[in-house]
Amino acid sequence: MSFAAVQKPVRRELEQVQGLLRDAFRTSIPILNRVGGHVLATRGKKIRPTLLLLTARLRGPVGQDAVLAAAVVEMLHAAALIHDDAVDSSVLRRGRPTVNGLWTDEMAIIMGDYLFGHALNVMVRNRLDLGLEVLTRVVGEMTGGEALEFQYAYDLGVTEAQYEELIRAKTGSLMGAATEIGAGLGRGAAARRARTPFREFGERLGTAFQIVDDLLDYLGDPEVTGKPVGGDLAEGKVTLPLIAALREAGEADGRRLKRLALRKRWTPGQWSQLRALLEKCGGFAYARDRAAALAADSQRLLAGA
Ligand code: IPE
Ligand code: IPE
Ligand code: MG
Ligand code: MG
Repeated sequence: MSFAAVQKPVRRELEQVQGLLRDAFRTSIPILNRVGGHVLATRGKKIRPTLLLLTARLRGPVGQDAVLAAAVVEMLHAAALIHDDAVDSSVLRRGRPTVNGLWTDEMAIIMGDYLFGHALNVMVRNRLDLGLEVLTRVVGEMTGGEALEFQYAYDLGVTEAQYEELIRAKTGSLMGAATEIGAGLGRGAAARRARTPFREFGERLGTAFQIVDDLLDYLGDPEVTGKPVGGDLAEGKVTLPLIAALREAGEADGRRLKRLALRKRWTPGQWSQLRALLEKCGGFAYARDRAAALAADSQRLLAGA
């Protein structure tokens, strides 16, 4: 099933979400509108608003509160990406130059902050209490996840459990927020317990999604993903393929892997050696299997919710 087919039941609402995003950059400050226009020119996949709207739709017609909450979630995602690209010194996003690449890190800080503030304001103005409750917590979790990347940078001893907690916080938490809010809208606080399996569904799915994203940093095609490869390890991010390969490698391969992994630049030959070793030690296969297991888990949670 294509993602367009998944989105079809909420296509109209997703257009409304895009309209609300555009509204964020109708300000009296020309440079804010210009940089915002650049960010919005590429739409992104809209995975998080799709999850929120589809979850809301499970219980009946989708109301304006769900559309607003979906837009807020996408604003927070966009803000996080703008900051993340500055943090990761990344120059390409959605096939176009990043804000930090085209302007500066300072401009990325300002744009991210502006969007965070705007998202909060939309929630307060529209009395989206559930959104405020969930998302103010989750923004802290996401930031904590990004902080852990610095905590563990260049640490080849990082464990799979530490890695998985990091990516759950960084990426899973916002997808979990989307599904929790979608499930909880219009239900009142009494339904808090009913929201939990939906949050866990989104968190697991988001964790699987980040494992695949981390795989794509080794194996992806920038023409398809719209972002560069090889950036994670250069920035010291030790992700699942490497963690698993180091665990499985014999002594000689382990030594070679460590030596190659700790470089910050690679010739094309060194990069293919590294990839071949990760393949040989089962790192890619392990990460793929783990992502598939988490996705299957999330499906089970949803079936039981
Ligand atoms: C990118 O998320 C950041 C990660 C969590 C890996 P998406 O792949 O959902 O980004 P867009 O919005 O579709 O570009
Ligand atoms: C996801 O991590 C970033 C956020 C959750 C904000 P990455 O750093 O791997 O995302 P990409 O690869 O830049 O999209
Ligand atoms: Mg990044
Ligand atoms: Mg990535």
